[in-house]
Amino acid sequence: MGERLSTALQEKLAKRLSFYQDIGIEFFYRDRASQQQPVVTVDAVGSPAPFSPGATLPKPFQKPQPVKLASAAPPLPRRLDVLPVVAGASLFEAMNKIADDSLLKIQADLGSDCTRCKLHRGRTKLVFGDGNPKAELVFVGEGPGRDEDQQGLPFVGRAGKLLTQMIEAMGLQRKDVYICNVVKCRPPENRAPEKDEVETCSPFLLRQLDAIAPKVIVCLGSIAAQTLLETNRGISHFRGEWMQFRGTKLMATYHPAYLLRNPSAKGEVWKDLQKVMAVLGLQGKKGSQTVKPS
Ligand code: URA
Repeated sequence: MGERLSTALQEKLAKRLSFYQDIGIEFFYRDRASQQQPVVTVDAVGSPAPFSPGATLPKPFQKPQPVKLASAAPPLPRRLDVLPVVAGASLFEAMNKIADDSLLKIQADLGSDCTRCKLHRGRTKLVFGDGNPKAELVFVGEGPGRDEDQQGLPFVGRAGKLLTQMIEAMGLQRKDVYICNVVKCRPPENRAPEKDEVETCSPFLLRQLDAIAPKVIVCLGSIAAQTLLETNRGISHFRGEWMQFRGTKLMATYHPAYLLRNPSAKGEVWKDLQKVMAVLGLQGKKGSQTVKPS
């Protein structure tokens, strides 16, 4: 049986639910095993206990059963005052299957005037992502630079031109793939995004990846790879090796900006991309031996 929530936990829960609502998540579901509980329980850090990332949805999927919060609970955000709970499903798997998440919905949830983290202060345009919403291949970069910030599009500056060459060398065009970043607003002076910024923005990236459901994700540089792989290890430890991101093949390679500074690393990147091409059945552009500079 569930137990009554303390006021402190109710407040934590309300805060967390507000956050989920901010990023567009409004519905939670529980499975048959947890339907006996009359009251939502929370774990020690205040997160709803039944969330279980990595697990699969129960089959057949159970119709959601609303669960009322204890009556002493502080007012919750609208539409969250009746709280069904997820059990046995990752939050994002559940979102996709239940709410039919789409890039348009994610972009609407994010908004164009987001102030969720401090990066908004120096932003001109938020850079959501660009390309084929059903792409088999997604490139994930770090965060917008100056040109991207001006245009509201990812990888349109010098590094972007090199990325375009890489994509074309693979036998594709930019419109065939999807390109996005870990953070959607430009960090000042092109510094690396900070932990709190990544934590605030990356739920949108995760939803983008789940909505697109590509065959392969290519992480450009260490920030993208470390974010998706949830590791602090340097990219050199796993660059060029197949990794997994929630069941999807993930290849980490050097960032095009790094290649502009270190052109001798282009051969390594081309080898990584050839592995990606093999998985996607791409022949590559005739005559492309390597990732050529612009
Ligand atoms: N570098 C990135 O990581 N992303 C961009 O969109 C541009 C440059």
